[in-house]
Amino acid sequence: MSSQPSSSSPTNLFSLSGQTAVITGAARGLGLAFADILASASCNIAALDILPEPSPTLFELESKYGVQIRYYKVDITSPEQIQQAIEQIEADFPSIDINVNAAGVVTDEPFLTTTKSNIDQTFAVNFTGSFLVAQACANSMVRRLTKTDSMADPPPSPTIDPSKSGGSIVFIASIATHIASSAQRISVYTASKGAVRSLVKPLAMELAPYGIRVNSLSPGYTMTDMMRGLQSQQPDLVKQFEQETLFGRIAVPDEVKGALLFLCARGASGWVTGQDLLVDGGASSWKHPAVLS
Ligand SMILES: NC(=O)c1ccc[n+]([C@@H]2O[C@H](COP(=O)([O-])OP(=O)(O)OC[C@H]3O[C@@H](n4cnc5c(N)ncnc54)[C@H](O)[C@@H]3O)[C@@H](O)[C@H]2O)c1
Repeated sequence: MSSQPSSSSPTNLFSLSGQTAVITGAARGLGLAFADILASASCNIAALDILPEPSPTLFELESKYGVQIRYYKVDITSPEQIQQAIEQIEADFPSIDINVNAAGVVTDEPFLTTTKSNIDQTFAVNFTGSFLVAQACANSMVRRLTKTDSMADPPPSPTIDPSKSGGSIVFIASIATHIASSAQRISVYTASKGAVRSLVKPLAMELAPYGIRVNSLSPGYTMTDMMRGLQSQQPDLVKQFEQETLFGRIAVPDEVKGALLFLCARGASGWVTGQDLLVDGGASSWKHPAVLS
């Protein structure tokens, strides 16, 4: 087991030096912000996204923080593409230590007229894609953590080396799984995010023997390309979301990334597993004025 208390000082509680994170959806938005904060903690980044090119900001992290950054164009609805990417990442980096699943899609569609294609596509990306990436990363972590140099035949049963760093898997869920907003009709999206959130307890249990922690992070309303896309269809959307938080505005991606670093850094959150961390500017904590007007 690798969950021994550590004697890290406050300055290195958040260090990820020598580790590598596989982050999906890292070409832009929250995934890119997560790449930035993990790289700032000296973590190498393997960024996966379906876009042909990521934001140039991604590659700037390499010189900014002195870490290795690689981009892999992957459609996470394809198990073959996921498998190939993870094999390539294992060849490009010394290890996979962290996995953050931020790739996601959303379609605003009333429940009564929701299409089967919306259900299939949303679950294919948000749930099945995240599941398969996490599974491939977890298998890579387990291979690393149980690797034996013995040539004995049959090999001795693997033992876990407590000096090795274990691992951290974080699913990106959503505020939508905590509270519905009358501004949106997103039952399919919410169910897909509820599904990834419900993975954390059973996976935390199954992977604890390897020292791998599994949590989810639920962002509240945050200004990203996803939000801009929704806003273009509903011009008043952001105005309503602003009224729903306790601070009268929605978040920018930078305000969510500290929570992500906390969940990834074993020094800071080594005793946290099987949890969802909601970072929503208080939106789920009150009956906001919009419902009273
Ligand atoms: N922005 C918000 O208010 C908000 C709130 C709660 C949760 N979230 C979640 O946070 C995550 C990031 O969202 P964002 O706001 O940065 O959105 P975004 O649209 O800016 O980023 C999502 C990324 O996922 C990628 N992606 C989509 N389908 C893919 C596929 N099949 N394979 C690989 N990559 C794919 C996109 O190309 C994009 O780069 C999502 O899972 C989203 O559901 C966002």
